[in-house]
Amino acid sequence: MSRSGEVWDDGKWALGLMSGTSREGVDAALLHTDGRRRVSPGPFLSLPYETSFRQRLAMVCGGTLESLGEVERDLTRWHAQAVRQLLSDHGISPSEVGIIGFHGHTIAHAPEDGRTRQIGDGALLADDIGIDVVMDFRSRDMAAGGEGAPLAPLYHLARAAELARPLAVLNIGGVANVTWIGVGDLTDRGEECLNGSQLLAFDTGPGNALLDDWVLAMTGYSYDQDGRLAAGGRVHDDIVEAFLENPYFTRMPPKSLDRDAFDLSLLAGLSAGDGAATLTALTAAAVVRAHKQVPVPPQQWLVSGGGRRNSVLMDMLGQRLAAPVAPVEAVGWNGDAIEAEAFAYLAVRALEEWPLSVPSTTGARAPTTGGQLCRARRAPES
Ligand SMILES: Nc1ncnc2c1ncn2[C@@H]1O[C@H](COP(=O)(O)OP(=O)(O)O)[C@@H](O)[C@H]1O
Ligand SMILES: [Mg+2]
Repeated sequence: MSRSGEVWDDGKWALGLMSGTSREGVDAALLHTDGRRRVSPGPFLSLPYETSFRQRLAMVCGGTLESLGEVERDLTRWHAQAVRQLLSDHGISPSEVGIIGFHGHTIAHAPEDGRTRQIGDGALLADDIGIDVVMDFRSRDMAAGGEGAPLAPLYHLARAAELARPLAVLNIGGVANVTWIGVGDLTDRGEECLNGSQLLAFDTGPGNALLDDWVLAMTGYSYDQDGRLAAGGRVHDDIVEAFLENPYFTRMPPKSLDRDAFDLSLLAGLSAGDGAATLTALTAAAVVRAHKQVPVPPQQWLVSGGGRRNSVLMDMLGQRLAAPVAPVEAVGWNGDAIEAEAFAYLAVRALEEWPLSVPSTTGARAPTTGGQLCRARRAPES
């Protein structure tokens, strides 16, 4: 997909955009990178969606809104707004940005049917901002027999080069996913990882999304701030066990999960607090299951995503996992920015036609590149 012989200018910024399954807003992150081992994060911004837009997104995801095209256009505008704001906040001109990695918003993810769908109009964004855009990161991986997710692992690997291993990076977003990185010297291109012996990644289970849905239904708030609701409730272990009977938890990785793979019916009759405590325990229990599926126990669990702010969840993880659990800030990363940074990194790799996934991260048959390039029709404003 390289731009007709053009070489990636790693003096420019790559900009990554993510709209996570929690549907909170757009995350935008700048990164200096060569698409390999050199990764140096820059400024970051989260632009929250208005409530009405969150609701429309939820309806699209639930299949109950007809006007998909309008939501897609508005979603793209929110992303354009996030790019403009990030650049203007930091006095960076669009001409200093070489590429945008535009993940879009996942409205359906059914790897068992070979289907995943992200909305977001790359051409509209490219023309609006005047910067080339890479979009559609997942479909090539699926065509190669992969799950199309998770895609942050190669970025985690690049960031983790100097850290003690084995290491687990646990992202607790709407869905939770883990990247396990083994020992062994990583070369600049990470070949031993590309052949799979040092890297394993998969969705562990529900992250925050199911809990958010419960809290919204029971209290009208959109999430359990600091785990306060869960802290006042009691965990119903039998219900956690019932959730864990889902065959997903015994399936061998790599594997990935739809945001709405689980529902709240098992919680019928519970108080708001007990339900929150039980769902928080479910997220933690699913991670404990994941721990049993990695090749060698990690020395450390580093947690990114909004779930790291839930102190009840973090305490449960700390009690149940054998190794220390800490937010990624403990090693100087930004736990809100990692996913967006990953799509900046992957956009550069896509331009170079390097793999975005490997068999052990998504189950693709071979290391697989991906992405579609949308060239901006006009030069960026300088
Ligand atoms: N202070 C907090 N206390 C508890 N949970 C939080 C807090 N801040 C964020 N969260 C949780 O994190 C979620 C957002 O996580 P995030 O990593 O942004 O998800 P996504 O990957 O979907 O973007 C929120 O929906 C909420 O459940
Ligand atoms: Mg988010």
